[in-house]
Amino acid sequence: MKVVSIVGTRPQLVKLGAIARAFAGTGHTHRIVHTGQHYDSRLSDAFFAELGIPAPDFHLGVGSGSHGAQTGAMLAALDPVLEAERPDWVLVYGDTNSTIAGALSAVKQHLPLAHLEAGLRSFNRRMPEEHNRVMTDHCADLLLAPTEEAMRHLAREGLAERAVRVGDVMTDVCFHTRDAVLDGGRARPPLPDGVDAAAPFLVATLHRAENTDDPDRLAALIGALADLPVPVVLPAHPRLAAKAEEHGLKLAVGAVAVVPPLPYRDLVAAVLASRGVLTDSGGLQKEAFLLERPCTTLRAETEWVETLDDGWNVLVPHPEGMDRAQWRSTATRPAPRSARTEPYGDGRAARRVVSVLEEHR
Ligand code: UD1
Repeated sequence: MKVVSIVGTRPQLVKLGAIARAFAGTGHTHRIVHTGQHYDSRLSDAFFAELGIPAPDFHLGVGSGSHGAQTGAMLAALDPVLEAERPDWVLVYGDTNSTIAGALSAVKQHLPLAHLEAGLRSFNRRMPEEHNRVMTDHCADLLLAPTEEAMRHLAREGLAERAVRVGDVMTDVCFHTRDAVLDGGRARPPLPDGVDAAAPFLVATLHRAENTDDPDRLAALIGALADLPVPVVLPAHPRLAAKAEEHGLKLAVGAVAVVPPLPYRDLVAAVLASRGVLTDSGGLQKEAFLLERPCTTLRAETEWVETLDDGWNVLVPHPEGMDRAQWRSTATRPAPRSARTEPYGDGRAARRVVSVLEEHR
């Protein structure tokens, strides 16, 4: 069997880490196409090295641009690659512009398409990720869903026959990395000056267009983080750094300590050492849950609704509109006492993906 994986952004590289490991030694041919959507080495090359992913077989070098220009450039560059490879499966991941470009190139060449992380929905049609995931699901021949909730969404859209629940490959990588980090005992993340790993601190990330692109919205969120009573370690995504500069906003204010984007292992170590997480990232909400740290999500909705059970994750779209004491106590709350459920699988999803691709070819 020949499978071509199409990736381009940091969260896709984490998922690819699990899939590439599952393919290694199977005798199947697994080719990797990197669209180049993320080109900063801290968002891309570092993850290949760290997660032991073979170098991409094709690098399209597309880079940034408006949604249309970026997606169109990827589509044009993907066509000849897929035409030459003619794999048994084209595998696309998640919900980015690289995902929809890969999906369109595959279906238009009548190549079987599988979508990993199918069936997630935020029901927020203003999010580019929502358009990408809905359209990709409806293009794909095989829908590899992480959760029961995702399976229900697919069934409601008439896609049940093409859907298989495999579990979540991010759980595979998260548990593997957690075990490596804790192997020597306590997690010891590299922390910025002034942040003591033995005292409470929070880890925050912000990168979604809906939070970064409007200056007033971004200023309100940074103000809310700055006002917290414990240090807030903020690994700044390039989009956040670029938008803050464009809007004339300083990120390192009050409680906020800015660091560059972290390698995956350091992020996991930081979350394990922290009191909790503040984020608008889907992946990090789930990682906080898997690592048993409370998460406060700076959005009005989440695709990972299972994390909301028992208050492991709480949605706070407008911290600036909240009573100050309530915001501070929500963000610094301790982990719930209840045992966490296991909706995201057992850490063996990637092997199931390979088996399901074999069975359905
Ligand atoms: C993309 C995905 C988002 C995912 C995120 C993870 C889409 C629509 N969005 O968002 O779902 O959660 O990746 O990180 O596909 N930039 C750099 N260097 C890079 C990449 C980006 O400086 O390597 C800056 C540029 O200013 C660029 C901006 O970030 O214009 C946005 O990058 P883009 O790839 O369009 O989307 P992300 O915000 O990274």
